Amino acid sequence: MHLKHILLPTLLATAHACTPALGTRAADGPDFPSTQPGPDTPPSPSTAGYFVNHAALNVRNLTRSVAWYRDALGFQVLFTFRASPRYSVVYLAHSGPTGEGGAGAQTVVELTAAMMSGRARGLLELVYFDRSGLESGERGGSTGFGHVGLIVPDVLQAQARLEGLGVQVLKRAGEVPDLGGPVGEAFGLPADVVETNAADAELISGALLGVLLVLDPDGNLIEVQSLSGGP
Ligand SMILES: *[C@@H]1O[C@H](CO)[C@@H](O)[C@H](O)[C@H]1NC(C)=O
Repeated sequence: MHLKHILLPTLLATAHACTPALGTRAADGPDFPSTQPGPDTPPSPSTAGYFVNHAALNVRNLTRSVAWYRDALGFQVLFTFRASPRYSVVYLAHSGPTGEGGAGAQTVVELTAAMMSGRARGLLELVYFDRSGLESGERGGSTGFGHVGLIVPDVLQAQARLEGLGVQVLKRAGEVPDLGGPVGEAFGLPADVVETNAADAELISGALLGVLLVLDPDGNLIEVQSLSGGP
């Protein structure tokens, strides 16, 4: 849907907050489409400095996906991180003159520097486990949504806060992850792959040591790390 169809009614509804909302039938609820502005409730001060650094997708063919996101959607490759012989992740961003990606970064070099110092925002991470030559390659593996990656000022403080709220924690910062279940799935590693590729699994576990992993109410995995990396 074009953004204006969502934004315009929202702005009008906000402007007319004290009068009956436009397009509203008096007695029996709104006409559709209907857009309600969100409440102006400020976020908890203890979440100051939380932001989304990246969303991760598990892909079947990294070459194909990188080319598609570049050619169809205009992303640039920031870097490729090879955690193990079979496991690679590629970080993508929209760079540009207005400094998309956060922290005023404009070029790939600036965006990568922003990423490395924990300042880059709104990146896309493509996660790939190379199944070629493996028996499990026939089974395809996990694709689609992987996880959302958050940056916070202090991961141990965020961890204590989230635990206090009763949020389901899969792995605390500093703990070795169990890749056999939902953690593996969220990082492109189905259980059968973890079972049969111990060396890769160990390297990937090491790369995840410093992060906190929690679940949202639907079981989506959220990766939380400190501004300056893990503890
Ligand atoms: C991956 O995608 C590339 C580019 O589309 C293609 O050339 C290559 O054959 C694909 N690899 C496999 C294993 O399908």
